[in-house]
Amino acid sequence: MSAQQMSSEATAKRNLKMQPDYNRSSRNQASSLQRFKPFIDAAVAAHTSDLTESRGPFVIADFGCSTGLNSSDAVSHLIREVRAKYASSQSCSSVLVVLNDMPHNQWSVLFDFLNGDQRSFLKQLPGVFAVTSGISFYDQVLPPSSLQIGISNICLHWCSQLPTKLSNHGFSLFGTEKEQEAFRKQAAKDWGSFLQARSKELVKGGVIVANFLSSQDKAASIFDEIYKSVEALRSRGVIESEELVNFNCPICFRSVEDVSEPSQYERLGLELLRAEALPQSRSTYYEDFLQHGDLDRFVSEYVNSCRVTCESTFSDALNAARSEADKAAVCAELWVEHRARVARQPRLFEFTWRTVGVVLRKL
Ligand SMILES: C[S@@+](CC[C@H](N)C(=O)[O-])C[C@H]1O[C@@H](n2cnc3c(N)ncnc32)[C@H](O)[C@@H]1O
Repeated sequence: MSAQQMSSEATAKRNLKMQPDYNRSSRNQASSLQRFKPFIDAAVAAHTSDLTESRGPFVIADFGCSTGLNSSDAVSHLIREVRAKYASSQSCSSVLVVLNDMPHNQWSVLFDFLNGDQRSFLKQLPGVFAVTSGISFYDQVLPPSSLQIGISNICLHWCSQLPTKLSNHGFSLFGTEKEQEAFRKQAAKDWGSFLQARSKELVKGGVIVANFLSSQDKAASIFDEIYKSVEALRSRGVIESEELVNFNCPICFRSVEDVSEPSQYERLGLELLRAEALPQSRSTYYEDFLQHGDLDRFVSEYVNSCRVTCESTFSDALNAARSEADKAAVCAELWVEHRARVARQPRLFEFTWRTVGVVLRKL
């Protein structure tokens, strides 16, 4: 296989896989979820579907559940709110939760969590049943008119595909104007696909509530710093130039303006109820570092959070001829490099976490 073929295969492939310890290294997502809960409450308040005729369970779905810890928090909160709202009827006595993620999700970690951890919604709430779905949320996941409430926390920044190769960086924030435009178009197209699928699944009066990463300041250099660590591996001869070029992260961010135009919803039979920036907050890891002052702990916790989200993209960029063991060793080397970088200048990693919350209802 030629280098060019390998490179275009890397462009087409999107084998996103969170690492097994995502539950322990996703505190920024967990913290954002706390600020997102008022949006979940608003979605429940806006839910108007007629439950008197319904004989089946009350169906909810979490789109992008990963390995379950944050998902369980979101789902438990949602079910409690729904049951409080419909306390006088039996319509929510049985709730079916569809936990959706990519086929390569660490499903066995999710199952262990759901079955064995006291924080699992299955352990906390009676009358709740769970099934999983390993299909991209940019496609239809549930039968038509079956979904009462869908949620998604910090997932929609993952594009369905890499829209273009990035010529001089691993992240589109630092791409050329043309490359950034291709990512913006991909983000808009993916948002349209997500809405179209949810519009088919939702019952009339059903709601969808999503929290996603919003436009990041270039000065928030955490992405640039990861790329610098990948570049350092190339300089040291740990990876080849082609592997550096193949390291392209298929993520994009959306602004409130991107999701505020009502016509994009109306044509899909959806109604936009809310689209707002959530309160910003400093990265949880840095915030904690300011309290405990332990640099080693900060470096370890922060770099683990990078690893659980970026490692599969980096591993996919490595030459296909490498053995799995070799790839694992190179990945480990990347995080050694990145730890040293973070330890040298921890201030650089004091970034602001910005997200947008959206609530939509099916007409
Ligand atoms: C940062 S994690 C968020 C997990 C969890 N919702 C939370 O609050 O921590 C993003 C998740 O979205 C999933 N994901 C990304 N693109 C997806 C897609 N097209 N379909 C389904 N899941 C997707 C990833 O596999 C990952 O588990």
